Amino acid sequence: MSTATTRAGITALGAYAPERVVTNEDLERLMDTSDEWITTRTGIRRRHVSADDEFTSDLAFRAVDDLIRRHGAGVLDGVDLVIVATNTPDALFPATAALVQDHYGLKAAAFDLLAGCTGWVYALAAAKAFVESGQSRRVLAIGAEALTKVLDWNDRATAVLFGDGAGASIVEAVEMPFGFASMVIGADGSGGKHLHKGSLGRCLPDGTPLGEHLYMNGREVFKFAVRVMDTATVQAIAEAGLTNDDISLFVPHQANLRIIDAARERLRLPPERVVVTVDEYGNSSTASVPLALAHALDTGRLVDGDTILLVSFGAGLTWASSVLTWGGGRG
Ligand code: UT7
Repeated sequence: MSTATTRAGITALGAYAPERVVTNEDLERLMDTSDEWITTRTGIRRRHVSADDEFTSDLAFRAVDDLIRRHGAGVLDGVDLVIVATNTPDALFPATAALVQDHYGLKAAAFDLLAGCTGWVYALAAAKAFVESGQSRRVLAIGAEALTKVLDWNDRATAVLFGDGAGASIVEAVEMPFGFASMVIGADGSGGKHLHKGSLGRCLPDGTPLGEHLYMNGREVFKFAVRVMDTATVQAIAEAGLTNDDISLFVPHQANLRIIDAARERLRLPPERVVVTVDEYGNSSTASVPLALAHALDTGRLVDGDTILLVSFGAGLTWASSVLTWGGGRG
């Protein structure tokens, strides 16, 4: 439970990207596209694509295995809640989180969370609330995604954008100043028609037909993304009682380099304070922010005590942002 001197924070992180890499040149051979179009419009050069028999639970397991590799087997001790944020669960039910709970033999509650690509930051918000209310002590918050399995590989407007991956984190009480200083989450369901994939229903309540593959109106989502990346980051910094200059590292959702650059310019942050991995992973949806954090850790750009700004957006439409001070775990 949080006290006057503690609050929730992230104390451990792991990540995984599938071994199979598909380059822009590979896609040139599959469809009417070009490396030049993809890199100038999106910044994407490669993406990691799950194997045919590799599903979201497999990706989640590999991210948790990486969490254990980085932090030791004890990292899962006392985990009493598992949240998996995903848009591509193995099954509608049971929840992928329950598969993780069983795989690692955890004495924990488990549920999935669906909030588009924003899911992992939403999962952090849920984990924070569970920890600070005293309901949970240690939360395993995962973002795992196999979106390439629901793409229409004949639709060049979406097929070139996405990749697969997973990230796993532990959220628990830490001593201040570590931990979450602010958390913003939001949604505007009127934009649901711009980014969707069907399940049981044939259409959305507004009549928008739903198909078996991911559909995206790229231009509409682009405009939405630039707008909320601005408003959500400004709000998260203000609610933390900080200014832009206090942000050591900006870790945005990796959907498009142009969207990231627009947000960075609005925040007046120099390029060295922004993590960019969209070139390597494409848009890996709920895995995008944890994969970017893992990259920052591995390259020495993120160390304990850093104040970082997270922001994400996605189907729903949804958005989330947070300012937190990294570290504070037991080591
Ligand atoms: O986490 C989910 C969030 N999703 C996003 O953040 C996506 C946001 N949107 C975007 O990133 C951009 O809108 C895209 C990268 C998807 C598209 O960029 P754009 O500058 O908005 O391009 P456009 O959709 O307006 O298409 C421009 C042209 C079209 O040709 P015409 O009509 O001008 O002749 C498209 O047919 O580019 C064409 N095009 C392509 N050409 C080559 C579309 N996709 C491709 C492609 N290769 N893969």
